[in-house]
Amino acid sequence: MNFNFYMPTMIRAERGLAKKVGDLLHSLGYKKVFIVTDKGVINAGILQTIESSLNESSIQFEIYDEVIPNPSCENIMEGVKKLRDYNPDSVLAVGGGSSIDAAKGIAVMANNSGEIIDYEGVGKIPNEGLPLIAVPTTSGTGSEVTSSTIVTNTKTHFKAAVISPYLYPKYAILDAELTINLPMGVTAATGMDALTHAIESYTSKTSNFASEAFALHAIEMIGENIEKAYFAGTDFESREKMLVASMLAAAAFSQSRLGNVHAISHTFSGVFNVPHGIANATLLPFVMKYNLPACPERMANIAKALGEKTDGVPVKQAAELAIEAVIRLNQSLNIPSNIKELGVTLDLLPKLVEDSMRSGNVLINPRLTSPKDIKEIIENAYNGIL
Ligand SMILES: [Fe+2]
Repeated sequence: MNFNFYMPTMIRAERGLAKKVGDLLHSLGYKKVFIVTDKGVINAGILQTIESSLNESSIQFEIYDEVIPNPSCENIMEGVKKLRDYNPDSVLAVGGGSSIDAAKGIAVMANNSGEIIDYEGVGKIPNEGLPLIAVPTTSGTGSEVTSSTIVTNTKTHFKAAVISPYLYPKYAILDAELTINLPMGVTAATGMDALTHAIESYTSKTSNFASEAFALHAIEMIGENIEKAYFAGTDFESREKMLVASMLAAAAFSQSRLGNVHAISHTFSGVFNVPHGIANATLLPFVMKYNLPACPERMANIAKALGEKTDGVPVKQAAELAIEAVIRLNQSLNIPSNIKELGVTLDLLPKLVEDSMRSGNVLINPRLTSPKDIKEIIENAYNGIL
């Protein structure tokens, strides 16, 4: 029963809230904001809404829109330099996981020396950064409510996790209108990333009653809504539920951390240029299969949350239904059934195994995992053997 649950981010969910972000900043007493975003957000016209709102509230701003997918340390430090030149009182992140993660790094480095990568690991950042307001434009990473940021080492392609209570955004603005026009591929990738967060958090060795409640509810909401959001993108209700579910899943994993799917996917998504969510979705059934003997009851609960008929079904069989449900979702969302189709090759296998084992997520995966196990999971995922 012993656990802590710390999540200091104020969450506001409301249709059209992005149009009032200037009001919010004004009410918090901020006058000069540094916006961190990317070209995709600019091209989608989303930033215009935010800029109008800031102008109406007489908030000064400068925009850093150079965030790249899987932001590198250099990319973040370039933003830090621009932020220091501008000297704002707050930071506003607008975008998907990459922009919000970069903004978290930039905001915290405003008051810390060295480079963000120097703080890889848990609890190593000495000083609190500038207050961050995060406006997600995808429903996936949930970075708006987590204490971590992922920084890619451009030379090794290793994705380092920096985790600190100072990385929690102060505010998360959930406005599903911003997600209405997401392309189908992005909807599938980000939505399956959120499902992977929820499943890995729910089965993590360090989950607790509170994180499990968030995770299981997120699994149910995603199971009910991901295909609607994918096939009928303008359906507001399913977009809204996916946005809330991705936040719930992230609030859960921020307490429990994740598992072998994220440990492995981080090693190859950068090297082979595979979107994070697609890498996770493809790996997920293989890791669930590996984990099943360690947590059959939890897997049976996942099956039920995904709408499988589990009443009266023996636990192990019910647990298998969870894997089948994920496989069916992947098929429906046009996600490959093996990582070979993602362009992954096995010539780097020893490095992928070594880098996976470096991830703290392996230690809290429900089933004890050795380098040999990781190697087998990757080989099975490559050959499509379940
Ligand atoms: Fe993820």
